[in-house]
Amino acid sequence: MHKNRGPVYYHDYLMLNQFLDCQKPLSQKFADKENPEAHDEMLFIIVHQAYELWFKQMLHDLNSILKIFSQEKVADHELGTVVQRLERIRKIQVMIGGQLEILESMTPMDFLEFRNLLIPASGFQSTQFREIEIKMGLKTGDRQSIDREFFLGRLSEADREKLISFENSPSLFKQLEAWLERTPFTISGEFNFWNEYQNAVSAILAEDEATVNSNLAKLSEQEKAMQLANLKTTKETFASLFDEEAHQKLVSEGGRKLSRKATLNALFILLYRNEPMLALPYQMMSLMMDIDENFTTWRYRHALLAQRMLGTKIGTGGSSGHTYLKRAADNNRVFVDLFNLSTYLIPRSRLPQIPPAVKRQLNFSV
Ligand code: HEM
Repeated sequence: MHKNRGPVYYHDYLMLNQFLDCQKPLSQKFADKENPEAHDEMLFIIVHQAYELWFKQMLHDLNSILKIFSQEKVADHELGTVVQRLERIRKIQVMIGGQLEILESMTPMDFLEFRNLLIPASGFQSTQFREIEIKMGLKTGDRQSIDREFFLGRLSEADREKLISFENSPSLFKQLEAWLERTPFTISGEFNFWNEYQNAVSAILAEDEATVNSNLAKLSEQEKAMQLANLKTTKETFASLFDEEAHQKLVSEGGRKLSRKATLNALFILLYRNEPMLALPYQMMSLMMDIDENFTTWRYRHALLAQRMLGTKIGTGGSSGHTYLKRAADNNRVFVDLFNLSTYLIPRSRLPQIPPAVKRQLNFSV
């Protein structure tokens, strides 16, 4: 704990003289008889600055999480810190989402009063937002080509280089993947969980097939074809879990990002999350999904705000506006593979029994 080093004055500590001098509406600077200051530009600046401040805090927490994960081994208590900081990021997201509502108290006509003065500046150029995206695991190469152009094309040379350099360090996604790959428990001595799970899945799929076959006579040709096709897809989806080649094919087609080993271990955590040792890892994966989902929700919310303010006009940064933002909301997801793990869940009653020796490792009690 630090000792007090003498009196501190509130204004100095928070540097309020500088901080509160950073809101300079352009419509005030260029005001004349025909074009008076636009009252709502102050709100526009303050909401954006508040966002940037919270982005700074999110990055402060995200960077510390990346540092913890960069170690060869993550100690249990450090996993607790990761969960606590992810939870904070999630709470910040929820809170800043509400600020769009305050901005919506500005009408589209009020916005028009100063919008032209902003061109070509745009949220496109929020390097902190981009840094969060990249550090979470969204690479420039993952974006659709037109979006990639928007992503880099509107930035200064220095900002562009800085962002590209972040892509060379492991993202949260990559670090989670490496951590999951190191997770023990699924293969131990005689016990190979995946053989047991595969047997359980085969039995369930055989039952499904029997049900479909027994109902075929009652169905039209079209319904029959549809049900058989569904069954085939389900079988193939499960098969890809156990077949490295099929998994790699999905990865190369962009249908999957997480390695097969990491996927299997993440699934194990999901299936046995009530085991004490897996509770924290489950909470961590859950928070990563929450954060991903909150980003998507924010993107949709922001796309609607843009539509409300601009209709079908292009953005100040030159994109198609609402259309571009909606596409980014649909595509820019990081932890989709964790969401899709639900495909592989099977009823609790059919879960393979974990042998006592492995169960003991998953419990805190001795
Ligand atoms: C009147 C309110 C707002 C309007 C009309 C608006 C409109 C737009 C539009 C049209 C774009 C697409 C790029 C372009 O062509 O300019 C964009 C991008 C963006 N805006 Fe806003 N925006 C508003 C408020 C905000 C706020 C409060 C934030 C908070 C930081 C924000 C952050 C962003 C970000 C990060 C992007 C880049 C998104 C991406 O490329 O995925 N915007 N905005």
